[in-house]
Amino acid sequence: MQKIQNNQRHRRIKLESPLFLGLAVMGLIGAALLLASVALTSTSSPFLCAWGGRAGPNATSLQLKAILHYATSRVVPQQSLGEISVSFGVLRSLGPTNFLVFGLGHDSLMWAGLNPGGRTLFLEEDPKWVQTVLKGAPDLNAHTVRYRNKLSEADQLLQHYRTEPDCVAKNSFLRGNHNCRLALNMLPDEVYDTEWDMIMVDAPRGYFPEAPGRMAAIYSAAVMARNRKRSGVTHVFLHDVDRKVEKMYAEAFLCKKHLVKAVGRLWHFQIPHEANVDADFC
Ligand SMILES: C[S@@+](CC[C@H](N)C(=O)[O-])C[C@H]1O[C@@H](n2cnc3c(N)ncnc32)[C@H](O)[C@@H]1O
Repeated sequence: MQKIQNNQRHRRIKLESPLFLGLAVMGLIGAALLLASVALTSTSSPFLCAWGGRAGPNATSLQLKAILHYATSRVVPQQSLGEISVSFGVLRSLGPTNFLVFGLGHDSLMWAGLNPGGRTLFLEEDPKWVQTVLKGAPDLNAHTVRYRNKLSEADQLLQHYRTEPDCVAKNSFLRGNHNCRLALNMLPDEVYDTEWDMIMVDAPRGYFPEAPGRMAAIYSAAVMARNRKRSGVTHVFLHDVDRKVEKMYAEAFLCKKHLVKAVGRLWHFQIPHEANVDADFC
């Protein structure tokens, strides 16, 4: 009996010794670093597959990077929590989805991370800004878009829309549409060949006369939504609706009747694919 007690005391002393504790802590740190590096670098790790049911391995890796990024960055996205929550709610209800975002920004990693297993594509006006953002987040899928018009042309372009046959709602199209100046006609095929379930218009900048305004982005989002072939609605989100041009074009092409939510400076439209039977946009 005395011998057993002595043995137990001896073992406890060994477990509590500084050397043993040091080795245990180092082992734990090593294991954590190993798991994190596997998670961040591997695209086919069973560890990642087990992590999130519907998330693809790449998406999950992107989510981990997003957590690291936002945990260590002092710069936050411009949209408020209330505004972000609107599209977040739709992303959660749809599951992996086709999400087209006009504009690269401090919110890009967040949007891609909130759509695990889905397709999130960014369209950005400024090629230098694309390079800067992709340097820090090479997993993002982004294309540069050259806009054909300036904010100062907004009123004139509405007149043009009313008189140009290739702009009218019925039979409206984007790819190769050279006559309608509101149609984004030079986008990569990937954009035209995908049916987008969600479209976020938070670019181009549109805050000084010479900058490209959001006219073409709003018009083109409306055309994509109307031309949807699959069942269901297209969710279109427009930010900065406190500005005159955004408001005017939203009312002309996305329509008050399709507006389902307004939070802060964000409007959320649900555009039914049946909209393409209407003679006009609104
Ligand atoms: C109104 S901002 C939208 C920003 C985004 N919602 C965010 O939270 O970062 C849209 C455009 O501003 C420009 N932009 C945004 N941040 C920038 C930066 N730090 N430097 C240069 N251009 C920037 C990009 O051209 C982008 O498409």
